[in-house]
Amino acid sequence: MCGIIAYSGNENAGDIIINGLQALEYRGYDSAGMTVFTKEKPLTIKTAGRVLQLKEKAVNIAEKSFCGIGHTRWATHGKPSETNAHPHTTELLSVVHNGIIENYSELREKLSKDGYSFTSETDTEVAARLIHHNFRETQNPVEAIIKSTAEFRGSYALCIIFNSVPDHVFAVRKDSPLILGKSKSGHFIASDISAFSDYADTFYRMADGEISEISKSDIKLYTDNGELKEIIWNKNTESDTQMNISSVFKNFMLKEINEEPDAVKRTFLSLTKDSLPCFSDIIPENLLKTVKRIHITACGTAYHAGLTGKYYIEKLSRIPCNVETAGEFRYSDPITDKNDIVIIISQSGETADSLAALRLMKERGIPVISIVNSVGSSIEAESDYTIRTSAGREVSVASTKAFSVQITALLLFACELAVKKNKITEDECRKISAQINKTYSYDIQEVISCSKSIRNAAEVLSESDEVFFIGRSYDSYLATEASLKLKEITYINSQAYPAAELKHGTISLIEQNTPVIAIATNTMFFDKMRSNIEEVRSRGAFIISVCPCDADIIKEVSDISITIPAAEKLVYPFTTAAAIQLLAYYTAEIMGRDIDKPRNLAKSVTVE
Ligand code: F6R
Repeated sequence: MCGIIAYSGNENAGDIIINGLQALEYRGYDSAGMTVFTKEKPLTIKTAGRVLQLKEKAVNIAEKSFCGIGHTRWATHGKPSETNAHPHTTELLSVVHNGIIENYSELREKLSKDGYSFTSETDTEVAARLIHHNFRETQNPVEAIIKSTAEFRGSYALCIIFNSVPDHVFAVRKDSPLILGKSKSGHFIASDISAFSDYADTFYRMADGEISEISKSDIKLYTDNGELKEIIWNKNTESDTQMNISSVFKNFMLKEINEEPDAVKRTFLSLTKDSLPCFSDIIPENLLKTVKRIHITACGTAYHAGLTGKYYIEKLSRIPCNVETAGEFRYSDPITDKNDIVIIISQSGETADSLAALRLMKERGIPVISIVNSVGSSIEAESDYTIRTSAGREVSVASTKAFSVQITALLLFACELAVKKNKITEDECRKISAQINKTYSYDIQEVISCSKSIRNAAEVLSESDEVFFIGRSYDSYLATEASLKLKEITYINSQAYPAAELKHGTISLIEQNTPVIAIATNTMFFDKMRSNIEEVRSRGAFIISVCPCDADIIKEVSDISITIPAAEKLVYPFTTAAAIQLLAYYTAEIMGRDIDKPRNLAKSVTVE
């Protein structure tokens, strides 16, 4: 979390940094700041607000600056305030940081004994003082960085300006991403290519322990013991068109939900050949033939996609599949065996817990397949095999189209596996492909276009303090995702339960008019779901159902029905996803929430 950008070159650094920070705001938006070299001296500007406020403050910089560092923060240590905002400065240097220095209180105590004092509550200020201390001794930026990082425990991406080395920026990373960029006008360092993709045509992803130094005319890379090493540049193919909302949509979340049909289609086409799943260029056939058990691990929405994936994998291939959140999986000493494979799902490809789970599995020699949306991410780089999803850039903090493409990839993977295990025939596979085709060609769009009942339901939710979601089988996974989406962008408390579980305790919370959203798409469970609905209805619940348009048995017991086109059960999660995302969206809109940037959140969670 937190976004970093640094620049040294011929353009005005202030402008480039502000633009870069705007692109990086998805990584955190609690506060922002920058240090730029003007002719005379380094100048630091900070705000407790967002990048837009920083931009307003920066208008007063009279002189052009040709080098600088910038930061947009997601607070870990210390509340969002101007004092805690980055850069943290000393008389010798200025530092921006993404990550957590876990032993910061130990280091702070040690530095206090050496006479240093602190003004902020952050771990970053401790890092700044330690680098300052070591620079005073060594008078060499790279040596000071090596000496300091040897004392850090935790994760860090640091960019540092030393006042005595104008127009140069130094950087180092461990477990938090940093990318170098090169353009005709200068050099860049940033948390993500998007920060400089308008300018730079080539990039290099720094590895853990590497140190870089950029100046107007040069860019150097050092090993962790300070030896120079060659940079192997990659071509930057990232297009920035996805960063524009366009006049049609009010915000990115609505735009991204509307992009789902295309995103699913692109992902489907990239992973199929003649309507059959085609993973032969990605995953060795033998791996699929010999696999005995699958572990899926991920966080948040990606974890919910993983649960849906479990349903697909077990249903179609009968291979047991265990799904766990990455933060738990990595510390659970998971039981693994030689014929296991692990699937890591991540939109950003940078989520700290998912990356740590991946590394743990690689240490054990378990083959790792990642399902990743961001090209060139850490998870992609470190996986054995990567299934790329084609959602395009997702900007809104609440994940929407990424979920749809993740379940597309998982359904196709499950089909491929089932064919390899002789559990389904190619013909059956083609039928599933035809269902996916119908879904992206018509059904998702129909849900998005016919949203009147969703808006009516949103009116009800916007007046509620507490909401319950229920469902059975894969519908219960969608219920969990629906609840997350609602909480995330509306701040309404909500809970999701498998429908049969409610009466084991939670039903005591149901009062007159408590909204219960029943997701019921699976014909197999219509009778059971109707009974569960009746149970809460008789206790006063207001029932909003999400069900196929022909599911009269469910509609009859609902106050509002959000209907989705009738389809086969494997593809209901696609249309249900669009419906529940829009439900959260319209509720948040009625409540006047900051939909793309909900409070306390960031898009890429790079701390554990
Ligand atoms: C919720 C949301 C998060 C992410 C989670 C994992 O809308 O976006 O729950 O799904 O932080 O992120 P990735 O997929 O980037 O690993």
